Amino acid sequence: MQHSSGYFATGASTFAEAQVEKLKLIASKLQLRPGMTLIDVGCGFGGLPKFMADNYGVSVTGVTPSDSMAKTARNHCCRSQVTILQQDWRKMEGKFDRITVIEMLDHVRKQNYDEFFRKIQSLLKPGGRVLLQHYAMDPGHFHFTEFLCKYQYGLIYFSTLSDVVSHASNYFHISNVHDISCDAEETYKHFIDMVETNRDKMTTLAGPKVWKAFESRMPWRKVALNAERSRPTKPSWFARMTREGLH
Ligand SMILES: C[S@@+](CC[C@H](N)C(=O)[O-])C[C@H]1O[C@@H](n2cnc3c(N)ncnc32)[C@H](O)[C@@H]1O
Repeated sequence: MQHSSGYFATGASTFAEAQVEKLKLIASKLQLRPGMTLIDVGCGFGGLPKFMADNYGVSVTGVTPSDSMAKTARNHCCRSQVTILQQDWRKMEGKFDRITVIEMLDHVRKQNYDEFFRKIQSLLKPGGRVLLQHYAMDPGHFHFTEFLCKYQYGLIYFSTLSDVVSHASNYFHISNVHDISCDAEETYKHFIDMVETNRDKMTTLAGPKVWKAFESRMPWRKVALNAERSRPTKPSWFARMTREGLH
């Protein structure tokens, strides 16, 4: 039920396993304890809210503006200690021990970062923690996603790590930055495989028009992966990362 990068470093070999490993990693970084409250901003289909409520005894609020996602998330979480709210992040209220923002920041344009992080700060109880997972771009790198942002998705904005850190650090002490770019790439490969394997099912579910629009982006997704592979090795900050280089 996730559509964000999984975590493969601990031995996961499938998309689903990597998602569970990612959720376990998030729970451990947040040091979740029973009775805590957590808000998941941009909760998608409710995978994280359900997992945290069922496995760690926390009470979770999930937020999404999407009608269909909110409905699916409510169904998915109906037997768990989870409330799903269909709303924009600006409307969020309350105080929480923990906050997760998993690959949702790309829907917040850069000019809104200050307002966004101020809002997140206002939702956090004293001593609380925030975990943000974000697809950051390297400055000066071949900007395949810039093309997508401009011509395909329109409202999505992938910022650089320094954009995020410089805005977030006005509101929070940043205690840990973890590069999971290898995991993002691995997730993406699994995603493309899953789409190709389930082509018939997806066409039936989404209808030919939606499928066609979606499929037209696939070559670009592959180009992105190949571009990653063929990154020049000099200057050194463009060197292709390996897991060994990260840990
Ligand atoms: C890429 S999905 C990630 C979903 C989920 N966090 C996951 O890991 O599967 C981005 C999420 O951000 C949500 N989102 C987009 N715009 C939003 C907004 N203005 N306020 C709150 N959530 C938003 C979308 O509805 C979607 O659930």
